[in-house]
Amino acid sequence: MNSKKNSPLIQWYNTFGRHDLPWRNTTNAYHIYLSEIMLQQTQVKTVLERFYFQFLEKFPSLQSVAQAHEDEILKAWEGLGYYTRARNLHKTAQETKAVLPQSVDELVKLSGIGLSTAHAIACFAFGAKVPILDGNVKRILYRYFALKSASEKELWKRAYALFEGNETMAYEHNQALMDIGSYVCTRTQAKCQECPFNQTCQGKSTPLAFPQKKPKKAKEQRTRFLIIYRHQNRLALSKNETKLLKGLYGFFQYEELPQIEGLNYLGTIKHEYSHISLSAKVYVCDVELNQCKEWFEYDSISQMALSRVDHKAWALLKN
Ligand code: ADE
Repeated sequence: MNSKKNSPLIQWYNTFGRHDLPWRNTTNAYHIYLSEIMLQQTQVKTVLERFYFQFLEKFPSLQSVAQAHEDEILKAWEGLGYYTRARNLHKTAQETKAVLPQSVDELVKLSGIGLSTAHAIACFAFGAKVPILDGNVKRILYRYFALKSASEKELWKRAYALFEGNETMAYEHNQALMDIGSYVCTRTQAKCQECPFNQTCQGKSTPLAFPQKKPKKAKEQRTRFLIIYRHQNRLALSKNETKLLKGLYGFFQYEELPQIEGLNYLGTIKHEYSHISLSAKVYVCDVELNQCKEWFEYDSISQMALSRVDHKAWALLKN
């Protein structure tokens, strides 16, 4: 093992790494696991400023997650998006009886823990000497090895190739790659002068050429009609069953405007999902109490987890 090979990376991390991130200053496996799940699809700044500490305040242990109702977990996740993560966190807390396994092979079997996250948790929480392969690391590898495209298997091979020589510093190696991915070698910019791989990177002359860009799929433009059924101080909400928002409560949505009496237009909400641009035309409709729907008083709605769009619709009504 050549322990010198990648030392510029470790030296760089010692000087420029984000050592103050709270999940890098703990040995609590639950805290590390939670951070990895939150960071899967959300930026560090958002997680740090609005979600990580707040969630830990409400659920200080994995045991407390396991004992909570899924609705409470979703409420604490409200606004963070990609709610499958929250439901999987809850499931995993229950399935593991709140004790996380330590090996990649066991971690990867759990709900919501993919191969890279399993490697990250094994390394950061349990000291496993393994590399990771999240989106940022993939981009670094494409550029470092000047790859236009590569299969997942090929990328793991490259992740191990770059890792060779740094095994004893696995923690620093992986955290450093994440930091390089977030502020040195980003999707739109490669600051090669600041990069510890400056001498060895094969893609350095044209970093943005790697990986080769795929033509972007056009976002689906989706129009929906959202109806807030109201009876005095109660509103009708239903639990969402769609993949994106499963478990959250929301107002009733339709593809076509229902032909019903008494619709009052409140406004249109625009919302960007990763693959969909949603335009929701919001109406309120005063109706008689209807047993087919579940009705909630305003106070109880504020305790429930709603999607951003439903929050915006509710705000339109309140204004
Ligand atoms: N993204 C995923 N895991 C991370 C970590 N440990 N630090 C910073 N960003 C991350």
